[in-house]
Amino acid sequence: MAAAPRLAVFPGSFDPLTNGHLDLINRATRLFDRVIVSVLRNPGKEPLFSLNDRLAILNEVFAGRPEIEVVAFEGLLVDFLRTRGASVVVRGIRSASDLDYERHMALTNHHMLPAADTVLLLPAAEFGHISSSLVREIAALGGSVRGLVPPAVESWIERRPRAGRTAQV
Ligand code: PNS
Repeated sequence: MAAAPRLAVFPGSFDPLTNGHLDLINRATRLFDRVIVSVLRNPGKEPLFSLNDRLAILNEVFAGRPEIEVVAFEGLLVDFLRTRGASVVVRGIRSASDLDYERHMALTNHHMLPAADTVLLLPAAEFGHISSSLVREIAALGGSVRGLVPPAVESWIERRPRAGRTAQV
């Protein structure tokens, strides 16, 4: 009997996708046959990018990578796992505080869906300081995000319409 293809779900807000996410997703594709990058519909109060833009960015970055599927989800992650017949969640940890947060999420997801397990991956050391929230802050204040995000994301950030961009206040 042929083994079932190994499927993993990499969920997140991806607002925006960073080089850290990219490194982790690439690592996940070496461990699993297929990786579903699932994008949470409502990340926070003031997203940098709409859901449609985040999906477009991810599809642009992962174009030509048939092993990666990009989809939106809302509601509970475990319900998304059930819908897709997946039982493995992949997340990254950069620090002890990430581990604490991820541990709670993993155990709670496992409580709700006992078949679900979470695999925690370490990103390369050079990406250990990168977070979407800092990228959003730098972008909002007009700084350069080069080296923190993939070039496609950098150009989306540069091209995005910003209210009051030319205001002198
Ligand atoms: O990139 P983020 O914002 O750290 O990702 C967090 C995410 C999307 C993985 C998490 O908030 C999530 O799974 N949300 C869906 C709602 C849910 O299932 N909540 C219970 C988690 S224990």
